[in-house]
Amino acid sequence: MRQGFAFRFVCLPVLLLLIAVSVPQKLPASAQAGAGSSGASTEFHADFSAARLQRGHYLVNLAHCFGCHGTPDFVHGQGQPKPGTEGSGQILKDILVNGQPLPDGLVAPNITPDKETGAGTWSDAQFERAIRHGIGHDGRELFDFMPYAFFRSMTDEDVASVIVYLRSIPSVHNSLPKIHLPFAVQRNMHPELEPAFPSGATDQVKHGWYLVRIGQCNDCHTPADENGNAITAMMFGGGIRFDGPFGTETTANITSDASGIAHFDADRFIRTIRMGRASGGVRDLKPIMPFSYFRNLNDEDLTAIFAYLRSVKPVNHNVDNSEPPTYCRLCRQKHGLGYLN
Ligand code: HEC
Ligand code: HEC
Repeated sequence: MRQGFAFRFVCLPVLLLLIAVSVPQKLPASAQAGAGSSGASTEFHADFSAARLQRGHYLVNLAHCFGCHGTPDFVHGQGQPKPGTEGSGQILKDILVNGQPLPDGLVAPNITPDKETGAGTWSDAQFERAIRHGIGHDGRELFDFMPYAFFRSMTDEDVASVIVYLRSIPSVHNSLPKIHLPFAVQRNMHPELEPAFPSGATDQVKHGWYLVRIGQCNDCHTPADENGNAITAMMFGGGIRFDGPFGTETTANITSDASGIAHFDADRFIRTIRMGRASGGVRDLKPIMPFSYFRNLNDEDLTAIFAYLRSVKPVNHNVDNSEPPTYCRLCRQKHGLGYLN
């Protein structure tokens, strides 16, 4: 799930300014179709094919859509949606991000094909516009808790696949209140949270970048300042603290710095994700880390994600959830080994 943004709305004017001055994004050829465009197409079509159905299933898992648009089980399960709730949406609550509760009235809507309470009547273009451009089926600007800022890099083919898959899941009749936040919502594409595209890198690293975007790794693994703005100089350096039914946990430093995961190789990375165990086996990871979704990725994709993480700037930031929490002056949270920073 994408709690990282829950508190980032605070400095909206600053972020809007950032958008205005942001330089054109460099994108892989494969991602240009969706990412560069400023407006959504009313013509978008997502015709069925078996290949798209399969690809869509894979991507919805990577993006952990049903962790929000469903009821994740953090207590008896590992964050997977309770059976029968896939796509049915939920009222989001009971999670603190850096000590702040989620705003009242936050609802992830029902996106199953149910015609009355879900997405059964939405067109392909309406879906595409919500996923990549942050505009709801009814034309409203979506709150950035929905990770459209990350999904805007998805290729046309991939977003079509997601739509094909969503149309195939069982309809769930689940009537939810409309989202009703205690502040005005403006669409926010968060250019500051787009990791630099590694244009000179290998195809494997570029592919890793693409997957990391959809998996929103740096959303959770980048610390925030007092105003909730991402400390982008520490991207992937960890330091967002989550409290919820899964316990209290701070995101890890996943850069190649000695304080991060310098001791990983691709095999250990894959073991960590597949087993849901820190450093490939030391202790169970708390399921707010969506490993139960990422573990379904194939080896090639996990290896590409690891290769991309190896290419990002190393960040010096000690975080260890097996140690008692102490104040950290870098991320301004309390976490294990915070006193070392
Ligand atoms: C971190 C939680 C989260 C994740 C992950 C997430 N969403 Fe959302 N989504 C939301 C929330 C919250 C809203 C409502 C935003 C609003 O109404 O302002 C939303 C809105 C939407 C909408 C617009 C619905 C409408 O009323 O028009 C669609 C479509 C959607 N999400 C699809 C997806 C898909 C597909 C994925 C995965 C590829 C996904 N979401 C992943 C939280 C999430
Ligand atoms: C919803 C927030 C969230 C997202 C999204 C997320 N993570 Fe995490 N991640 C965490 C948290 C929290 C922890 C620490 C869990 C713990 O220690 O129990 C963690 C831990 C990890 C670890 C374990 C580090 C160690 O020392 O063993 C790795 C590796 C990791 N994440 C990689 C990733 C990658 C790669 C992605 C994207 C594909 C990602 N994470 C997306 C929250 C997230």
